[in-house]
Amino acid sequence: MSDIQPKAPLLKVQDLQVHFPMGGGLFHRSRGSVKAVDGVSFEVPRGTTFGIVGESGSGKTTTALAVMRLVKHTGGHIRLGDTDIGEAQGEALRSQRHRFQMVFQDPYASLNPRRRVGDAVRDAMALLNTGTPAERPARVRELFAAVGLRPEQEQLFPHQFSGGQRQRIVLARALAAQPELLVCDEPVSALDVAIQAQILNLMQRLQRELGLTYLFISHDLGVVRHMCDRVAVMYLGVIVEMADRRTLFERPLHPYTVALWSAAPSFDPRQRGRGRRIRLAGDPPSPIHLPSGCRFAGRCPAAEPACSQSEPPLTEVSPGHWVRCRRITVTADGPQPVPMG
Ligand SMILES: Nc1ncnc2c1ncn2[C@@H]1O[C@H](COP(=O)(O)OP(=O)(O)OP(=O)(O)O)[C@@H](O)[C@H]1O
Ligand SMILES: [Mg+2]
Repeated sequence: MSDIQPKAPLLKVQDLQVHFPMGGGLFHRSRGSVKAVDGVSFEVPRGTTFGIVGESGSGKTTTALAVMRLVKHTGGHIRLGDTDIGEAQGEALRSQRHRFQMVFQDPYASLNPRRRVGDAVRDAMALLNTGTPAERPARVRELFAAVGLRPEQEQLFPHQFSGGQRQRIVLARALAAQPELLVCDEPVSALDVAIQAQILNLMQRLQRELGLTYLFISHDLGVVRHMCDRVAVMYLGVIVEMADRRTLFERPLHPYTVALWSAAPSFDPRQRGRGRRIRLAGDPPSPIHLPSGCRFAGRCPAAEPACSQSEPPLTEVSPGHWVRCRRITVTADGPQPVPMG
């Protein structure tokens, strides 16, 4: 979260699609595809944090990896500032890589166990051609200080650190290239709650000091509420609702969002015990055989027959608040939640 006024978007994702072909079969014919991301659009203003929430398998990580150009997108556009990073290939892509970096969930898995951590940060700079070799040691010291590590800790190996300290090292390494965008996929999910708060506060401070923009993925609603300026809720490869943090947490409209919030009232003590808990029946359908209408209709407590006919579009029901549900009505008082069950 930041006090910076929204400006032109740094990241602009338009109609992003990632369909994974289903391999082989007996005669090596393609047997359809997994529609992991199926037409996702959002913008992230510079210096702000955009959150993506949703159940396991909704396509959050695949969206992040596609933005990072680490999985192949099968459709859509990705722009970083004025650059079309979705189309860039080879050297053109390599020359942009320093501008967007990723922080993964498990800091241990993303560090080489046999490399001293100071060298790991220096390697990242060499790889992305940041500064001259002579400048790099001083820069590593600066980065270690910025993430709250001591200079002598540069000489240690990853196993000599705690999980929280390792995530600090990963942050230092991601920042080595002076990126504009940090894509963070569950960056604190592997850490103890007390340590989570320290890392989140560090990330907020770094954002303020360096003007960073975050794409922040988490299934923890409390964390998302703490960190994000704007939030999208994904369900089976699409965004079903998107709004600024306050609107989304205080006035969720999509039945899926309402159900998700009601299933986790503990993320906000004020919410505890308020409202009825809505249980979702069953699991999400397979992303290979998607239902024809609204993807959520089969589990939705408010579904009516028309919901299974065609997929509703993502519609702006009030300024900046987008919902993909045909049952939302907009009155003079604004958009009205769907009466459920
Ligand atoms: N390389 C791949 N090949 C085929 N299917 C994939 C591949 N990667 C992901 N998927 C599928 O795409 C869908 C979305 O997966 P993704 O990892 O993006 O979900 P997620 O929202 O990050 O879930 P989680 O909360 O568990 O991390 C899932 O159905 C997953 O099985
Ligand atoms: Mg994931």
